[in-house]
Amino acid sequence: MKTRIAGTGHFLPKNVVTNDDLSKIMDTSDEWISSRTGIRERRLATEETTASMSAEAAKLALADAGVSAQDIDLIIVATVSADHMTPSTACEVQAAIGADHAVAFDVNAACSGFLFALQIADMYIKQGVYKNALIIGAETLSKIMDWNDRSTCVLFGDGAGAAVVCPAQDDNQGLASITLGSDGAKGMVLAGINRSNNNPYVKTDIGPHYIHMDGQEVYKFAVTTVPASIEKVLDEAGLTSEDIKYFVLHQANIRILQSVSKRLKVSMDKFPISLDHCGNMSAASVPVLLDEVNRKGMLEKGDKIVLAGFGGGLTWGACVVEW
Ligand code: ACO
Repeated sequence: MKTRIAGTGHFLPKNVVTNDDLSKIMDTSDEWISSRTGIRERRLATEETTASMSAEAAKLALADAGVSAQDIDLIIVATVSADHMTPSTACEVQAAIGADHAVAFDVNAACSGFLFALQIADMYIKQGVYKNALIIGAETLSKIMDWNDRSTCVLFGDGAGAAVVCPAQDDNQGLASITLGSDGAKGMVLAGINRSNNNPYVKTDIGPHYIHMDGQEVYKFAVTTVPASIEKVLDEAGLTSEDIKYFVLHQANIRILQSVSKRLKVSMDKFPISLDHCGNMSAASVPVLLDEVNRKGMLEKGDKIVLAGFGGGLTWGACVVEW
């Protein structure tokens, strides 16, 4: 039995911040940001929270799937920017949507988080432990950015994307293959620094709480690992890139997407883009883009797509889904 994606949804904060808006508050320009990244604007939360955006995205995914919150028995939220250490964002979503029968927890795999959540849900569903799962990627990265560091704060945005996953009706539908990976030895090239310990026995002050990134190292990691992981899941599914309608990738940087498209020898037309209007939303990038593609009516039953994420940890993940 396979696991299928039965419905999708996404939610973005209402506050649109363009590159020109940023150039009024820091030394940057639309030309610098858009030419290096492809980003033109992003949404930055004002009233919205990681949990509230997750809940709104979840409601839309449930409606799209035709599944009620009462029928959800598993909720996983992938995030690095939960509103609270505890309760988890997933527990907050459970309360907000009334999914009274669900088990709920968060996972932290940065920009690969949605793929990690998908594989966990897939294993539970295939084992018959749970039937209907809600998996969500959600971030309020604006609260963990260093707004004095123009080389990182211009890259990121806030938002949430969700999918309902459940048993496939037949074997020609659903998750055909999935791979995940981690390389903790290189973790500090993309890190959210600091958990200080201030107790009666030790006092530590290990610097700011913000995201720090070695952009060039991240670039090198992404352009080698992402094509390799996609080739692996294509092989495992017995497919080639020609069989794939869309490559729905984490939206870090247009140059990374162009490099992956070149290495896979696949036209950029097969790479839908949301980073121009969303920026990099870490765990939310893949599910938000998937929902945009779905809601535009770009997917028909039987279409094969690749989802892939890569980022902090370092972590990566890719899968083939038959719609
Ligand atoms: N506006 C204007 N100038 C800037 C800005 C800015 N926002 N940010 C940096 N600069 C300046 C720097 O100060 C530097 O100036 P200098 O030469 O006078 O010292 C110059 O631009 C070049 O800075 P670099 O950091 O070397 O910029 P680079 O050309 O490497 O581009 C970028 C940065 C776009 C992030 C690049 O490293 C890259 O593409 N990285 C890929 C990784 C990535 O995009 N990560 C996103 C998040 S990670 C993830 O999601 C997996």
